Amino acid sequence: MDAVKDKKTIFSGMQPTGYPQLGNYLGAIKNWGQLQDEYNCLYCIVDLHAITVRQNPADLRKATRNLLAMYIACGLDPDKNIIYVQSHYAGHAELSWILGCYTYMGELGRMTQFKEKSEKHDANINTGLFTYPVLQTADILLFGTHLVPVGDDQRQHLELARDVAIRFNNIYGDVFTVPDAYIAKSGARIKSLTHPERKMSKSDEENSCISLLDSPEAVMRKFKRAVTDSETEIRYDAENKPGVSNLLEIYANCCDITLADAIAEFGGKNYGQLKTAVGEAVVGNIIQPIQARFNQVSAEADYLDNIMKNNAEKAAMIGQKILKKVKKKVGFVV
Ligand code: TRP
Repeated sequence: MDAVKDKKTIFSGMQPTGYPQLGNYLGAIKNWGQLQDEYNCLYCIVDLHAITVRQNPADLRKATRNLLAMYIACGLDPDKNIIYVQSHYAGHAELSWILGCYTYMGELGRMTQFKEKSEKHDANINTGLFTYPVLQTADILLFGTHLVPVGDDQRQHLELARDVAIRFNNIYGDVFTVPDAYIAKSGARIKSLTHPERKMSKSDEENSCISLLDSPEAVMRKFKRAVTDSETEIRYDAENKPGVSNLLEIYANCCDITLADAIAEFGGKNYGQLKTAVGEAVVGNIIQPIQARFNQVSAEADYLDNIMKNNAEKAAMIGQKILKKVKKKVGFVV
């Protein structure tokens, strides 16, 4: 895909740590595939962000290739979307340095993700962890991004990107596009299977989260153990019956039916039947087809290498125009 002028640009990033899980798929990646004709889409595998916490080098390399293969397996066409690796285009790091000089310590110190991660990794509170949102700002602003699909946990970072863009533009004129959040028309907010009041997350306990590479047995087992409530009636009530409501939501999304149809289907049935049906839908409609494509794509190392290389070049073509403008504005000899 080449950047088409009259289309808006969408940018999103995902860290190559572990595998995407069902919540990432149903809440984000599945919908990204439907944006590829309407927008110029860039999906970046953010390995620079990943090393803000210590990574095993071999694992990081593997996870990076796996995430690329997984994106393709999930339906993102690498000819229509710029799927690439952040460290393959130095423009991210360059712009990040420059923007760091337009970001205040106080702004970064307020970031909840920084506070949370510093608590979790208290032996390694490095400056990269602190300036992480500046790099994310650079990711977004580098491509004239209009829209960023983000979950609630990334809103504060997007807000910073907007503030920095506006601040820079106020000094130097219209350089950056001020990005907005992209709110998906559809897209489920899948919850943890063991703590259905919070969202599904791969950094949570094993049984709470369905990895897209889980075996069918593991998926069935996790759904069987999913937390419900002490009633017996299947109905949707996210507040008082978060577990059952989450299962209904997953079922509707996996079967591409409305929530109302899913609710109707389980009227009069019991929780055990619901859990089995959801597990089977996830395995049959999501896990098996994605894993089949993933295995196919992963086996083609040259194909993946080519995609990484070509797409990093495409990203660089777009980024260099803005980066050059920025360098000129701040007074570098270009
Ligand atoms: N920080 C994001 C996350 O952890 C990942 C990310 C990096 C990102 N750069 C981005 C997301 C730019 C959106 C836009 O989820």
